Formats: sequence, C-alpha cells, structure tokens
Amino acid sequence: MTQNAKQNLKLTLAKQLPKMATNSNKNKQSLVVLVDDKKTILASELLTEQVERVNKIMSATNFKGKLTESVSCLGLAEGSMPLQVVGVGALDKLTATNLQKLAKAIYQNNQKQVNGLVVALGDVLTSEQFSQFALALLNASYRFDKYKSDSQPALLKKVVLVSELNVKAELAFVKAVHTGQNLTRNLANEPGNVCYPQHMAEQALALAKAYPDLLKVTVINQTKMAKLGMNCFLSVSKGSDREGKLVILEYYGQSKFKKSGNKADAPIALVGKGVTFDTGGISLKPGAGMDEMKFDMGGSASVIGTVKALCESRLPINVVSALACAENMPSARATRPGDVVTAMNGKTVEILNTDAEGRLVLCDTLCYVQKNYKPKAIIDVATLTGACVIALGSVRSAVYSKDEDLLFALENASEQAGDAIWHMPLDDEYQSQLDSPVADIQNIGGREAGSVTAACFLSRFVEEGQAWAHLDIAGTAWNSGKNKGATGRPVPLFMQYLKNMAEQK
Ligand code: BES
Ligand code: MN
Ligand code: ZN
Repeated sequence: MTQNAKQNLKLTLAKQLPKMATNSNKNKQSLVVLVDDKKTILASELLTEQVERVNKIMSATNFKGKLTESVSCLGLAEGSMPLQVVGVGALDKLTATNLQKLAKAIYQNNQKQVNGLVVALGDVLTSEQFSQFALALLNASYRFDKYKSDSQPALLKKVVLVSELNVKAELAFVKAVHTGQNLTRNLANEPGNVCYPQHMAEQALALAKAYPDLLKVTVINQTKMAKLGMNCFLSVSKGSDREGKLVILEYYGQSKFKKSGNKADAPIALVGKGVTFDTGGISLKPGAGMDEMKFDMGGSASVIGTVKALCESRLPINVVSALACAENMPSARATRPGDVVTAMNGKTVEILNTDAEGRLVLCDTLCYVQKNYKPKAIIDVATLTGACVIALGSVRSAVYSKDEDLLFALENASEQAGDAIWHMPLDDEYQSQLDSPVADIQNIGGREAGSVTAACFLSRFVEEGQAWAHLDIAGTAWNSGKNKGATGRPVPLFMQYLKNMAEQK
C-alpha cells in the first residue's frame, strides 16, 4: 500500500492527571485545562496550585471562556508543567461541531509548540461527546505531504486524555474509525495519475491480504462486465486507456454470508462512486477547478476506508462493498452524447450528457449487488452532482431514501458521529424529468433539482421492496481552496450506523 500506516498522533487515556514532573519543560509538555463560559473548570482533580494559577490567568486576561478562546502560562519558577486555559463556551451548546472546532484549535495551537499535551476533560462530557472530541483531535493531525520535499513533521506527537468516564472501548472504536478515515483521505488526495481504477483494486487486494480472515476481494474487469451486460458502466470507462474495475469486498464480521442463504445473515451493502478522474468526457468540463475532479472517487474511498475501519474494529456484522471505479475521458472511443446503452437490468439509457457519468457506473453496480447478494439494505455514496453543492454546501451531505427505518437509522448515526446529513426529497413527480423520447430513461433531468433527479435516476435501478439510501457527498467529501484536501466523510457516519446495527442484533 502507498498509505503510510504510521499515526501522526498517539492518543492515550488516563483516569487521573499524571504527576507533574519537574523536568516537564525538557519534555515540552503542556496541560490543557478546559473552562466553560461560567469560568467553571471542567476537571475536578487539579491541584490547588493549578486551580489558583488558572483563576489568576483568567482574571489577568479577562478570559470569558468562549469556545476555542485560549490563554497560556508558561511554567512557573518551580518548574511545574506549562498550562493552557481553553474555553468551551456554554456546556449545553457543546455540539459535535463545537467539539470538532475545539479539538482542531487545541491541535493547531500546539502542533508546533510542544511534544505532548495532557487534556483535562473531567466528567462533564458524555461518552458520545468524548468520542466526537477524540476523533476530531486525531483528524486534526492528518496531513498529506508525501509530495512535499520540505515537509516538517509536527512536534506534537502525544496527547493524554484525562477523563473520569469509562471510555476505553469508545477510544478503541474512534481509533479504528480514524484509521479507516486516513485511508479514505490518502486515497482521495492522490492525483489521478497515481490513483486510477487498477490502483483502487490494488488497495482493496492489499487490505484483504492484511485481514485474510475477515475480507475477500474480487475484481471484475471490463471483459467480465461486458458478459454481465454492464453497458452503462462500460460507457464511462471506454473513453479511457485505463480499464474500469468493479471491486467487490466481502467483510465477514458475522458469518460467511454468501453460501449460507440464511436471510438473517444477509449483508448490508455499501456502493461507492469511484470515478478516479472526471473530465466530463465528450461533454468536457471547463478548465477552471477541474483538478478537483481527482476527488470524484471520494465515494469509493469512503467505502474502502469504512471496510478498513470494520476490519480494525472487528464489528460483528456482514457487509458487502462495491467500488465502481472508472476514469471519464474524452477520446475517439468515448461515448457520444445521444448514444443509447442497455444497463445490466435490461433498461435502455439515452446518454445526453457524458458528464453525468457517476449515475452510469452506479446503476449497473446497484444491479450487480442486488442480484448477487440480496442485501438487507443498500447505501450508495457518491460525489454525484454540482447541484448538491449549491443546495447544501460543505456542511451536510444529502441523503435520499424512501425507507423510513433506514433513513431514521442514518439520521441517528449522523448525529451521534457528528457527520451531518440532510434528508432530501424523492417524490415521483421528479421522475418525469428523466423521460427520454428514444429510450427507457435519459441520464440527465435538466436544470431544475439536479441532485434530486440524479437520485431519481438511481432509484430506477433499485428493485421494489429493496431498502436503499443514496448519499450525495459532492459538497462534503473534500475542501476546496487553500485547504484543498479530502475530509474522509462519511466514514464516521457509516461506522456509527454499522456499529448501531451490530448492537441491535
Ligand atoms: N463529479 C461531478 C459532480 C461534481 C461537480 C461534484 C462539482 C463536485 C463538484 C459529476 O459527475 C457531474 O459532472 N455532474 C454533473 C451532472 C450534470 C451533467 C447533469 C453536474 O453536476 O454538473
Ligand atoms: Mn461528471
Ligand atoms: Zn463525476
């Protein structure tokens, strides 16, 4: 694997504040004391000397305890640990988003200052809030600098979280999620000349080699796809010199589900859009910002990251995953606007815009997964539409589903994990935008409701009675601009959902 397995930040737990060594300045450690907007210290076990110092700093600097407000006081003459007071704002407003901001601020303020931090959390946070904070701290330490000749590693290497809660299992789960999210971010951040369909397949095969007892990987090449009638998928990859690959990962956390035929063991299916570069094809995209289309495999990257997190956490649940990997290029062999192709389920599709390619690789993959696995539920995830970015920006991913149980489960998991989603409509009234004068369906629905009609297109390939949800992560999979880079979303949502499902049984 090209991914560096090393973790940037080592997180450990302690029930009590470690004894302050007098040589702590040499170790370059610092103690973070959290304080709310009533200037109450969250941790109860500070020494009197430390409480006095905190109160002194607060009054000397007119400290208000606002979220991420921070003041520090270097070690005193007797050599005790330097101390920082960091505000958390109102305790009843300590949402996942605010905890993420807090963790990011603490990491960024210290990454170049100290080797280690001790964060005194006390007993005010719930275990859910603890997990949100811990995951955000780990994620703040992520960097993708393998192509930088002059990269400097962060000084901050170790954080001790002092909590009175019993959160050992929570921390282990958070670490598994983070490890998966790192794979997602590393893969999505790779440029298109490195990460193409074969590279995605190799990542999956390497993962199966690392966890042979839990994972089985099958790679379906274009010859096999042609035999299966996956002509929508092939219509996307045929313009590229890089062969499209459908990568199937079977995770057996519960039992061997394939041969059992036992309905209780039926897997949950995750399906990811894996367009390793989206030029638009013959319906070529404009040049500005096209580089960001290397992130167009973000759905697939989040699926393989989730599988890695599953292996790390060994969740007792069966999951089948499919990465629909293709490169969308213009060439003499590329699909033309107006071409008609037949999907795996026999439906004919008029391709009016070759830039609406995500739905084409996904529709055949949905057919394949339903036919071969009869999943309990299918969740597909895709950087599917620019319209979704206009509708929801980079805060929430869009979720589409007509299955109330699945929707409820996803919305719950989303809140628990601090990985926000928003329920969007799938009314039948939108479907007529996809009526084609020449085929069963056309691949675009016009200017209106672009994210909805993309979801409607996918819905045509989901069988009656099949529980299914679609996530459009076009706005949330990566950040643009100065902080350009993959976010690793929605791995936290997926892992929380799967953990909840595993615990239900
Ligand atoms: N990968 C894009 C969607 C996208 C665009 C994601 C910008 C994030 C930022 C997708 O394949 C695409 O090109 N969609 C078209 C669909 C249209 C032709 C109906 C779009 O959104 O413009
Ligand atoms: Mn496109
Ligand atoms: Zn695309």
